Amino acid sequence: MKNYDVIIIGAGAAGLMCAITAAKRNKSVLLVEHARKVGRKILMSGGGRCNFTNMYTEPENFLSANPHFCKSALSQYTQWDFIDLVNQHGVAYHEKTLGQLFCDNSSKDIVQLLLKECHQHNVIIELESKVTALEAMPSGFSVSVNQRSLSAGAVVVATGGLSIPSMGPHGFGYQIAEQFGLPVLPTSAALVPFVMNSRWQKQSAELSGNSFDAIASNHAQSFKEAVLLTHKGLSGPAILQISSYWQPGESITLNLAPEMDLASWLKQQKQQMAKSQLKTVLSQLFSKRLAAHMVTSWLKLNTDDNKVMAELGDKELEAIGNTLNNFTVYPEATEGYKTAEVTLGGIDTHSLSSKTMMCNDIPGLFFIGEAVDVTGHLGGYNFQWAWSSGWVAGQNV
Ligand code: FDA
Repeated sequence: MKNYDVIIIGAGAAGLMCAITAAKRNKSVLLVEHARKVGRKILMSGGGRCNFTNMYTEPENFLSANPHFCKSALSQYTQWDFIDLVNQHGVAYHEKTLGQLFCDNSSKDIVQLLLKECHQHNVIIELESKVTALEAMPSGFSVSVNQRSLSAGAVVVATGGLSIPSMGPHGFGYQIAEQFGLPVLPTSAALVPFVMNSRWQKQSAELSGNSFDAIASNHAQSFKEAVLLTHKGLSGPAILQISSYWQPGESITLNLAPEMDLASWLKQQKQQMAKSQLKTVLSQLFSKRLAAHMVTSWLKLNTDDNKVMAELGDKELEAIGNTLNNFTVYPEATEGYKTAEVTLGGIDTHSLSSKTMMCNDIPGLFFIGEAVDVTGHLGGYNFQWAWSSGWVAGQNV
C-alpha cells in the first residue's frame, strides 16, 4: 500500500493551499481531485476574475454557530499573507470596491500561482480520482482512491460545500464526518438570489436587469450595496448578502434611497415640481421604468396613479416616502444550491481545534474550507477562509 505523510481530498482553494503549506514542510503530499482540473470554483469566481481576498477581512464577516472559531486561522494566515503570495508571483490585481481584490486579467492567474507552488514543492496531484472511503488504522488512515488503497499519517478533508450541483460530487466531507461521529449542522444555500411569487414575477418581468443601491436588512443584519431585479425575483450583492441571514417565511426590508429621508424629499419636490406626476419625480432617483413600476405596483396607492404632486397631500407623501425607505418584500424561496455561491452550515466546529483544524478526538484527521461551518460574506471572504484554514492545517499535518 503506497504511503504518504498527508492525503488531501479535494483540490479547491483550501486543499491546494493546505498541500503547498504541508509540502513546504517537506511532507510527502498527495492531493486527490475528482475533476479533470484543480480549482474549478476559483476559475469561475468573481465573474472570471476571482475576488481572491478582502483587505478588511475580520471575524465579523463570517457566519458560524461558533463565531469565535474562525479567529485563530484568520489571524495565523491573514489576507496580507495571501496578498504577499500574489505579489511574489507578479499577479496583477485591483481593489474593485469595499476592499475586494480582483485579478486584473483572469482567475487563471490564481490557479496557475497555486499550481506553480505545488510543483515547486513536489505536491503529487491526482486528477480524475475520487476518494470513496476512508478508514482509521492503528496508525494513520487507509484511503480508497479509484479502487486502490493508499495510506497516510494524516488526512485533510477539503471537499467543499453543496453549491453548483452540476460540479459534483458533493457531500463526501459530511459523510466522512458522520462516519467518524462528528456532528454536521444543517446546510442551506447562501449568497443566493431570491425567488419572488408568480404575481411579482409577472408584474416585474419587464424590469429584469434594472438595479439600484439599497440597504437590505432583516432582524439580524444590514447590507448597503446594489439590488438587481431578475426574471425570478431579486439578486445583486445586497440581496446575496442578506440571503445568508434569511429563513423561509421571513421578510426583508429594502431602503430604496439609503441616503435620503424620502418623506421630506417628496414634500420638497411638491413645491418645486407641483405639476409633475409622482413617477416623474421618482425618476430623478430611479430608472423611468422602475419609477413607474413603483407607483403602479409597489406603492399600492389608494389614489389615482396619474395625480400630480400638487394633488397629493403631505400625509400621503409621507406614507409614500416611508414605504420606499422601508419597502418590505417576502421572498418565496431562494434559487437554492444551483446558483448559490456557498453553503451555510456543515461540519460543526466544536469538534475541531481552531488552532490546527484537526478533529479534537481523531488525531490526524483535519477538515478545512467550505465543508466546515464557517461561511463568509460576499467579497473575497470565502476564499480567505479557504486560504487561512488550508494554511493552518498544512502547518499541523
Ligand atoms: P471547493 O468546492 O472549491 O473544492 C472542493 C473540491 O473537492 C472540488 O474540486 C471537488 O471536486 C473535490 N471533491 C469533492 N469530493 C471529492 C472526492 N470524494 N474525491 C475527490 N475530490 C473531491 N468566494 C470568494 O471569496 N470570492 C469570489 O469571487 C467567489 N466567487 C464565487 C463564484 C461562484 C459562482 C461560486 C459557486 C462560488 C464563489 N465563491 C467565491 C465561493 C468560493 O468559490 C468557495 O467558498 C471556495 O471555492 C471553497 O473552497 P474549498 O476548497 O473549500 O471547496
